[in-house]
Amino acid sequence: MQASFGEEIPFQSKLGLDREASGFSSTITRRFVIAPSFSIYGGVAGLYDYGPVGCAVKANLLNRWRSHFIIEEDMLEVDCSCVTPEAVLEASGHVAKFQDLMVKEEGTGTCFRADHLLEEHMEKLMEKEKNEDKKKEYAAVVARIDDFSPLELEETMAKYRVLSPEGKPVSAPFPFNLMFAISIGPTGMYKGFLRPETAQSIFTNFKRLLEFQGGKLPFAAAQIGRAFRNEIAPRSGVLRVREFEMCEIEHFVKENEKSHPKFVTVKDIKLPLFPQEQQLGSGKLLSCTLGEAVEHGIIANETLGYFIGRTYLFLTESGVKTDKIRFRQHMKNEMAHYACDCWDAEMLTSYGWIECVGIADRSCFDLSQHSMKSNETLVAYEQYKDGPRVVEALEVEVNKGLVGKALRGDAKLLAPYIESLDEAGKIALKQELESGQAKITAGGKELTLTPEMLTIKKVEKKVSGENFFPHVIEPSFGVGRILYAILEQNFYTREDSAAAAADEKDKSKKGDVKRAVLSLPPHLAPVQCSVLPLLDKDEFNAIIPRIVSSLKAERLSTKVDSTGQAIGRRYARTDEIGIPFGITIDHQTLENDTVTLRERDTTAQLRVPIAELALLIRDLCEGRQAWQALLDSKKYPHHQ
Ligand code: ATP
Ligand code: GLY
Repeated sequence: MQASFGEEIPFQSKLGLDREASGFSSTITRRFVIAPSFSIYGGVAGLYDYGPVGCAVKANLLNRWRSHFIIEEDMLEVDCSCVTPEAVLEASGHVAKFQDLMVKEEGTGTCFRADHLLEEHMEKLMEKEKNEDKKKEYAAVVARIDDFSPLELEETMAKYRVLSPEGKPVSAPFPFNLMFAISIGPTGMYKGFLRPETAQSIFTNFKRLLEFQGGKLPFAAAQIGRAFRNEIAPRSGVLRVREFEMCEIEHFVKENEKSHPKFVTVKDIKLPLFPQEQQLGSGKLLSCTLGEAVEHGIIANETLGYFIGRTYLFLTESGVKTDKIRFRQHMKNEMAHYACDCWDAEMLTSYGWIECVGIADRSCFDLSQHSMKSNETLVAYEQYKDGPRVVEALEVEVNKGLVGKALRGDAKLLAPYIESLDEAGKIALKQELESGQAKITAGGKELTLTPEMLTIKKVEKKVSGENFFPHVIEPSFGVGRILYAILEQNFYTREDSAAAAADEKDKSKKGDVKRAVLSLPPHLAPVQCSVLPLLDKDEFNAIIPRIVSSLKAERLSTKVDSTGQAIGRRYARTDEIGIPFGITIDHQTLENDTVTLRERDTTAQLRVPIAELALLIRDLCEGRQAWQALLDSKKYPHHQ
């Protein structure tokens, strides 16, 4: 059904970049932006290393993330352990539910992710199919894959006779837990996992964070760090890896107070949404403002909407193209076990649309789970604004002597457990006790209680406030995916006749040379400017240190190339790793202390006094000065 607001717009399904033919993949590996790990030993699927260029771009992206979110929103940053005890991930539900469905190829045992195999199979069927009705039927299956229950997935795979890429039969789908199991310490008795997300250690530190915040909600904590997932069949390059960097925010709010004071600052942003209804219906995006989406209940609340807006701004300011990003709502069955609404920021890459950020309303799932299973009650307290109230409540009285005798060392687990119970929990416990005994899990232990141990009775009491489990809105960013999408979306090639001519004496090649350009925003570029003496001559090289130190004084990074190679070839080498500005020292420099300043995308050059260079480049990199406006201003002479 067409929504009564906004407009439906189609979307591209392919980026239109041929990774191999365009030279993208080879540039990324050859210039050591990102490359497979341990390749001298044959490599391991899903493990990648960042080289100097990749590291610098990633550091710039993370700096920007830190200032856009942590500093702008006064978030509390933490940096916690990756090694996580089993009990934590049992409580969070990851031990039982953090799994994907996989199938095994008969005979070889090769593993595949079931949903990916089905999707590839349906897409192949669609390509071959002439009958329009059949095509529609296959497309409807693809649209629903994320929403299939395990049984539906199995039935659909059987119905369409899905085979392995080798054409061999595969097993029925079965669950595979994606966590890397480890044992902590030398005994082998203490089980743990490498964390699959950074979020859990924010929840386990909730009490400290709340105290740091003076007990007041809302507040957000954030963490940048590694996560590990033993992906079943990582085949999409760096998009699906087994070890990656995440930036996660846990924004704690009261359940019925999910409005956001700064929502007004994003409400007029118009962006492409892909709500559940559009995914199952028209298959088109809904372009509307965040204000409209929240008002019509498409996005569940202002806080979720606020973070969607801030994420959109962060990504587009980092070089993601506005027509190559969309926010897709999770289907009901697709939602993680802890989430009640979830939107993914997806970006268009040569692999199709890829989730790069998940923005979920996790409700109070995690804090209540950890309260039940640990020795702490992870609640916030709020004083009633209208003064104390007399309320009827259930009070639990513990027969300490009896409990001490019966539960011994475990007796201390009972008080925090009782404290974590809300009224419904107390009623349930009372009913269970009335049937003879109650079995509970407290501090990770199963305890049996008898009616003599506890008295649960109604009392009237004067209370001045209440404890409650805060809800959590969680934006979760995958740094590697974002970085890769930015690299692909900003890569292009151009014919470079000057470079070609300089490259070879062979004039027949003129105009044939394709040069790769990584058109990164200057604040993300691995290096902000190159310094290139036109010729490898002592009088030119002698000027380099003065230029470099003036640039470094302005916190600009530099790369000197005094190899004496043809200048066109040297410019090309800086273009392909995204260096936005190039400074050339030439004969005129010796005469009047000016250099040429070249911009990567226009390749236009200005002649600028060395004394003004550093501040000018700083302004250009920080967006205070636009290159085109500088060209138009004629402030500096153009250099041919
Ligand atoms: P997918 O469905 O693609 O496996 P997911 O739904 O499991 O992803 P989340 O659990 O929401 O992803 O993780 C949050 C973010 O972490 C993702 O948006 C993504 O950017 C990143 N991420 C998750 N798994 C991987 C991976 N294997 N490799 C790289 N990044 C990942
Ligand atoms: N913390 C969100 C996720 O890993 O999915």
